[in-house]
Amino acid sequence: MVDARTGPAEAGPYYLPTGNEVEVVEQCHAGGLAVMLKGPTGCGKTRFVEHMAWRLGRPLITVSCHDDLTASDLVGRFLIRHDETVWQDGPLTRAVREGAICYLDEVVEARQDTIVVLHPLTDYRRILPIDRTGETVEAAPGFQLVISYNPGYQRMLKDLKPSTRQRFVAIELDFPEPAAEAAIVARESGVEQGTAVALVELGGRLRSLRDRGLAEVPSTRLLIAAGRLVASGIGVRDACNAAVVSPLSDDATLLGAMRELVDAMFP
Ligand SMILES: Nc1ncnc2c1ncn2[C@@H]1O[C@H](COP(=O)(O)OP(=O)(O)OP(=O)(O)O)[C@@H](O)[C@H]1O
Ligand SMILES: [Mg+2]
Repeated sequence: MVDARTGPAEAGPYYLPTGNEVEVVEQCHAGGLAVMLKGPTGCGKTRFVEHMAWRLGRPLITVSCHDDLTASDLVGRFLIRHDETVWQDGPLTRAVREGAICYLDEVVEARQDTIVVLHPLTDYRRILPIDRTGETVEAAPGFQLVISYNPGYQRMLKDLKPSTRQRFVAIELDFPEPAAEAAIVARESGVEQGTAVALVELGGRLRSLRDRGLAEVPSTRLLIAAGRLVASGIGVRDACNAAVVSPLSDDATLLGAMRELVDAMFP
């Protein structure tokens, strides 16, 4: 079966590497090292992890982190079922037992007391002590921890502690260079190559507005969204304004400057 967005199933989730990240994660997986992916929103972190899980032949368990996430949400808890208390593994514990890849998305959103449960898993011990049950689970072969975050946000207090950071091999991802990004946009949105190249060119010009105060610049994801609108028959200027320009800012001056760039590129 062919999924339009990922290509033939046997090829796995589509991911075009931008450097040596595939080899690095393969080596980390073989060596039992945890990985930290850093990069702006929409640059392909999640897709990369999906691709690597497929490539390594491991199940993928994803947790989206937020500030209410507790250690129990990760590790597990006792539940009352038919007058009985039964232990239920959380997603991290399941991944440790199954030898899955556990992907913690936006990990800096989680509180420190939640994040520390990762520590014994990320050094030579590769164990998960479960305080509530007294059990110590040894990580099954193939288990790997991958965390990701976007270092661009202003977060002051929300940062990883050095004792956490230094347990991970860090990989910096960024937007691909123009030819690669155009190939991704064409493939993911279904627009023809020429339109994809033009959308990427627009993306590049909009990204240079960062110096003029644009806090958030368009990601590959936004360019793909514009491409999808174009592929469905919407005019390219309307598509760019709706899918790329408007989501980026509410500031009238910046919006005006961005629309001018769109008009100049697609007269
Ligand atoms: N190198 C790439 N190869 C293939 N597709 C890519 C690549 N980079 C980005 N994409 C596309 O961009 C979209 C957004 O990427 P993804 O969701 O992985 O970003 P992200 O870095 O996880 O963003 P966020 O930080 O917001 O979660 C993907 O759905 C995919 O279509
Ligand atoms: Mg993501």
